[in-house]
Amino acid sequence: MKLLFIGDIMGAPGREIVKEYLPLLKRKFQPAFIVANGENSAHGRGITEKIAKELFDAGVHAITLGNHAWDNKEIFDYIDSEPRLIRPANFPEGAPGKGITYIKQPEGELAVINLQGRAFLPPLDCPFNVADRLVEQARKRTKLIFVDFHAEATSEKQALAWYLDGRISALVGTHTHVQTGDERLLAQGTGYLSDVGMCGPMDGILGMEREAVIKKFLTQLPVRFEVATGPAQLNAVLITLDKNTGQTRKLERIRIDANHPFME
Ligand code: FE2
Repeated sequence: MKLLFIGDIMGAPGREIVKEYLPLLKRKFQPAFIVANGENSAHGRGITEKIAKELFDAGVHAITLGNHAWDNKEIFDYIDSEPRLIRPANFPEGAPGKGITYIKQPEGELAVINLQGRAFLPPLDCPFNVADRLVEQARKRTKLIFVDFHAEATSEKQALAWYLDGRISALVGTHTHVQTGDERLLAQGTGYLSDVGMCGPMDGILGMEREAVIKKFLTQLPVRFEVATGPAQLNAVLITLDKNTGQTRKLERIRIDANHPFME
């Protein structure tokens, strides 16, 4: 059975390309589970209730978030009423929402866990300890466990993946917006990819308008970043899961843009 995970959806260009290609990806790969990271889906900053509903209507079964989870205040209430929308589980006690959800399909049940790294990001609770707790909880229900680790450093991503190897089906990274080419199976059958990459403008810098980002590097002054315009790219990963063992059989990176056209 297959899990399609869609990388950080960035503003309107990201939402549009996901809505355009998701029907084609579903037809081609028939994924049982579809998960997307939506932490940049509202103009690069967080998510809104309307956008979350749009993504669910498009066929996404669960949405993960990250360091921009709280950029839109309306989400504080909505997240508690929508179990399919989760935020990093290692936010301190008392934060709204949850960091784990389950997608139940006729073929089986997938646990989806969202965690955030602490290297070059705010000092949340320890993602390793929180993962221990949530994985133990999830394994009482299902062998199919997926982790979106929203983190900056590849070392932290590799460390958490190896720490959980054999206890979860797959761990993939989000947040850097750049797809890495290091997909592999770890020794105990956990699938791994350092970063899935994003869905959004192709010719910006990580999806933001180039001019503002370059100005920031040149001047070190505060600059307001806006989501770039122009052609978009879609980055995702297709994970083939073994229902009986809970292990990953295969990871295939998906990249759709002007240089990588979608093949039916
Ligand atoms: Fe992020």
